[in-house]
Amino acid sequence: MKIDKFKVEEWFNKYESKAIYDLADTCVESLSINELLKITDSDTKEIYSRKLNYGDIHGSNRLKNAICTLYKSQIPENITITHGAIGANQLVMLSLIERGDKVVSIIPTYQQHYSIPKSIGANVKTLFLKEENDWLPDLDELENFVGTDTKIICMNNPNNPTGAVIPYDMLEKIAQIAKKSNSYILCDEVYRGLEHNGQISKSIADIYDKGISTGSVSKVFSLAGLRLGWITAPAEVIKDINHQREYNTISVGILDDYFASLAIENKDKIIKRNLNKILEGKKVLKDWLEIENYCHCVIPQGGTTAFVGYDIGVNSADLCRKLQLDTGVMILPGETMELDGYLRIGYGNNPDKLKQALNIFSNWLKLQ
Ligand SMILES: Cc1ncc(COP(=O)(O)O)c(C=O)c1O
Repeated sequence: MKIDKFKVEEWFNKYESKAIYDLADTCVESLSINELLKITDSDTKEIYSRKLNYGDIHGSNRLKNAICTLYKSQIPENITITHGAIGANQLVMLSLIERGDKVVSIIPTYQQHYSIPKSIGANVKTLFLKEENDWLPDLDELENFVGTDTKIICMNNPNNPTGAVIPYDMLEKIAQIAKKSNSYILCDEVYRGLEHNGQISKSIADIYDKGISTGSVSKVFSLAGLRLGWITAPAEVIKDINHQREYNTISVGILDDYFASLAIENKDKIIKRNLNKILEGKKVLKDWLEIENYCHCVIPQGGTTAFVGYDIGVNSADLCRKLQLDTGVMILPGETMELDGYLRIGYGNNPDKLKQALNIFSNWLKLQ
């Protein structure tokens, strides 16, 4: 299967290890095992006696029950466990999309959402979010794109890179548009839980009967190293996905399953920790935007990233390459997410370093 290069991942492979200030990262500062055990009041004794077998093939009941608490009306039969959200998205697409199917993908987003369908031979229509709409989808445009012959709409809420959060009434309208076409909606909800006002968005799986939600412990729970995600979907879709899944997963690691269960069972504590860090970083970002003349940005409402526009006439990849070479500050160019003229800045890590890096960036911009 031929597939386009994954531009964001390639950028990371090339530049991340050399960064002095990494503003490209999308995770909230990761938890260590010790921190996870402390925050969840657990100890490790139980884990030492575990046999390192395959474990429960589709994920333990404990984990699936914990995941159900992240939704309003889901049961373990609606869930399967995957290798991160990246594995979840891929499995959904491989299971549902066939050559010639029409797929509508709302971008900018994680590249899987348009490059995998394209590689399968689907007819992919990409609908661009616009800054003047606060990065929310234009519903008339979406309705036009979807028509009555779309197989699946792929979207991401809260959105990476813009930080936009689709309000409930808009999500419902998107579901109505999908219903007219009898299409599935795959909503990548990997940042759901990190809404900055503390009001967790409704999941597409809870509001639409052909809604499929993908999630993971990477962002919301700061446990990207576990490589653990899930798909929440109607039971018959999960059956098809599990059929496909036999070929690439068997099971996830039992330690990943165990630690993810602990984290999700203690979701309130971990989300509180992470929102505090995000809001601290967001304040640094907002203060910087107020004094930085060359940049503009719709203030993000969720997630860990902002999509910052800039007003110097240079391509975003060239800008980021030179910036990092001159200063060690790593920022992700919008070009890697199909929108030049923008930069993705992650603000969920160390706020002091963020402040320093943004100052360095401003000084550098003045010299360009
Ligand atoms: C929107 C989105 N989906 C999926 C992923 C992959 O997440 P995971 O680490 O759970 O595989 C990412 C990672 O950055 C992401 O931003």
